[in-house]
Amino acid sequence: MNTPIRIGVAGLGTVGTSLVNLIHKKQNLLADRCGRALHITGVSARNKTRERDCNISQTQWFDDPVELAKSPDIDCFIELIGGEEGPARQSVIAALESGKHVVTANKALLAKHGVELATLAEKFGVLLNFEAAVAGGIPIIKTMRESLTANSVERVYGILNGTCNYILTRMENEGLSFEACLKDAQRLGYAEADPTFDIEGFDSAHKLAILCSLAFGTVIASDEIYIEGITSITYDDITAARELGYRIKLLGVAQLTDSGVEQRVHPTMVPIDSTIAQISDVTNAVAIDADIVGQLVMSGPGAGGDATASAVAGDIADIAKSKPGHQHGPAFGTPINALLPYRRARMRAHEGGYFIRLTVSDETGVFASVATRMAEQDISLKSIVQHHSTEKSANREKDPKPQQIVLITHETTEQAIRLALTNIESDGHLTGQAQMIRIEKK
Ligand code: HSE
Repeated sequence: MNTPIRIGVAGLGTVGTSLVNLIHKKQNLLADRCGRALHITGVSARNKTRERDCNISQTQWFDDPVELAKSPDIDCFIELIGGEEGPARQSVIAALESGKHVVTANKALLAKHGVELATLAEKFGVLLNFEAAVAGGIPIIKTMRESLTANSVERVYGILNGTCNYILTRMENEGLSFEACLKDAQRLGYAEADPTFDIEGFDSAHKLAILCSLAFGTVIASDEIYIEGITSITYDDITAARELGYRIKLLGVAQLTDSGVEQRVHPTMVPIDSTIAQISDVTNAVAIDADIVGQLVMSGPGAGGDATASAVAGDIADIAKSKPGHQHGPAFGTPINALLPYRRARMRAHEGGYFIRLTVSDETGVFASVATRMAEQDISLKSIVQHHSTEKSANREKDPKPQQIVLITHETTEQAIRLALTNIESDGHLTGQAQMIRIEKK
């Protein structure tokens, strides 16, 4: 057996604790598979005296994660602190600069500084692994970085946030309000400390930025993402979508188009018989359309201590198996100097079908005027139906019987839809905010 690999773990929250326990519990299996033992030789966290559900009694304690990262007693630094700046970034940089391999689960750090960190990893000849940063336990990074090397990816998309999927699933299954479902998600510990991050789509956007770079070999462009969260989705949207054969999911989509790369996070209509529509509760899923292999869909737990620790342990095992002094594969699948610049496709050029739900006053001619406004923009309608709203009208006295018009369009452009909606609004028949949800092709 070779010499053990010495590991330093910074951050002992849910994931860090699960990782320590996993490495202890599976020490024999890991040693057999890696050809050497995995030893946790140092740990660091904010509070030394806090009660923890893991055994770190034999492990050297570091108050400062940067000192742990630089320690001559570790070969591999595990960053589970979180946050795009501060100790997480400083300690990862310190580890790479001192020639330590790094494993991180930190999507925010990679989305913002991934290229800088991968550059350091290349410069110092070490590995930067981050399987756990996207979709938790699903091995999507290795799949994209290694297994699909011979493919050109056309689109990668998925359910990248378990909290949003949980909320949408419960709203649909139980007819509950968004607020009630969010409270439950927080109670169950699914939501991030600040739920805005989940429900406004930022968490998905961080993950998407990483997938986009792997998919298209471009530099990470986390500031170039169109983001809409799920806070405007109502039960009326969900039921209307279902009647028309769709389900609403918060998707992150990165897609190659003639005018550049689209990166977008928004509530999306997916055909109810598609694989992605079947993914419920906190489960994540990622679909990849690639030219040689075709479509792949992977699903599984996107968060949680054990699932995330499983991905981190897999990354550590890869490092343990790597040969000292050998060239390591690039962190983002393409050497840094060969990454392409990012060319953003404008959202108004986005092409696709649209779901529109309009709350209107019950007057003669409204239906016709909506159809006319669509026709003016050359938008072809696939269906147009009228519904009774289950929601309270904001203006019940003036408008005792609010009606809903629900439209599904054939493929058109975002620009055309936005113009049509502006014109419909100016006609004065709407009694509530128009809802527009993009339809994603299977
Ligand atoms: N809060 C995230 C989610 C998990 O709900 O999926 C970590 O990214």
